[in-house]
Amino acid sequence: MSHHYLQFDNVHYTYPDGHEALRGITFRITHGERVALVGVNGAGKSTLLLHTNGLLLPTQGRISVGGIEITHKTLPRIRQTVGLVFQEADTQLFMPTVEEDVAFGPANMGLTHEEIAQRVTRALEAVGAESLRHAAPHRLSGGQKKSVSIATVLSMEPSILVMDEPTSNLDARARRQVIDLLDRFDHTMLIATHDMEMIPELCPRTIVMKEGRIVADGETTRIFGDRKLVETYGLEQPSRLRTPPRSAAETVLPS
Ligand SMILES: Nc1ncnc2c1ncn2[C@@H]1O[C@H](COP(=O)(O)OP(=O)(O)OP(=O)(O)O)[C@@H](O)[C@H]1O
Ligand SMILES: [Mg+2]
Repeated sequence: MSHHYLQFDNVHYTYPDGHEALRGITFRITHGERVALVGVNGAGKSTLLLHTNGLLLPTQGRISVGGIEITHKTLPRIRQTVGLVFQEADTQLFMPTVEEDVAFGPANMGLTHEEIAQRVTRALEAVGAESLRHAAPHRLSGGQKKSVSIATVLSMEPSILVMDEPTSNLDARARRQVIDLLDRFDHTMLIATHDMEMIPELCPRTIVMKEGRIVADGETTRIFGDRKLVETYGLEQPSRLRTPPRSAAETVLPS
């Protein structure tokens, strides 16, 4: 795997209705890092993720992956490097069988039938879903759909895996399976999530967003160990990083 990194430089994005969802985003994720992206509803996390593989292009600023700037021209290359897993698995699964969904990306890359078959097998094995190969995606459970939608991206063999809320709507067991699955990957990862408990398990670094801006970026233990910061940005401390509440002396009570 080459030394791919993801770099945002002063990225702004305004939706066609005039809403400015990204207001000057700058960060760099280097090869092998695992980064959580957090912030309240509407902070801009999904909008940022859609920029990582060119589904949205910045209205201002630049984004590059491994030194290649994301433009219309470089999109095919970028999409082989950055794999984006959407929040809703149904958005990612649209073929009659799981096998065809997982083969879709590699087939578009112009690979031979044999190479495609190998990739499908490898991707399904990686997510533990070989037995679902011939199943109809719309009949799968939420957890199975999530695993298969991750496989549809893995079959492209990206070096950077970007995920939007990978554990949302999953029951405890399916959630655990997805976390353990992600933990086994050695991909560079950027994960937007409201699942605070997952973050210290998977991501040594956390980026916090508010209203289209990055308001904190650093070690997960430092960010979530800072009770005040966590409360200010509408987050919650994961149980393993929980610090005691402010002492009564510090608490200002209304007189
Ligand atoms: N297609 C769109 N057109 C106009 N505005 C949009 C569109 N999609 C999102 N927005 C707005 O952009 C802002 C950021 O939305 P975004 O979906 O990126 O937030 P988010 O951090 O992913 O939120 P959540 O935690 O709810 O998933 C919000 O104010 C949202 O209303
Ligand atoms: Mg979102």
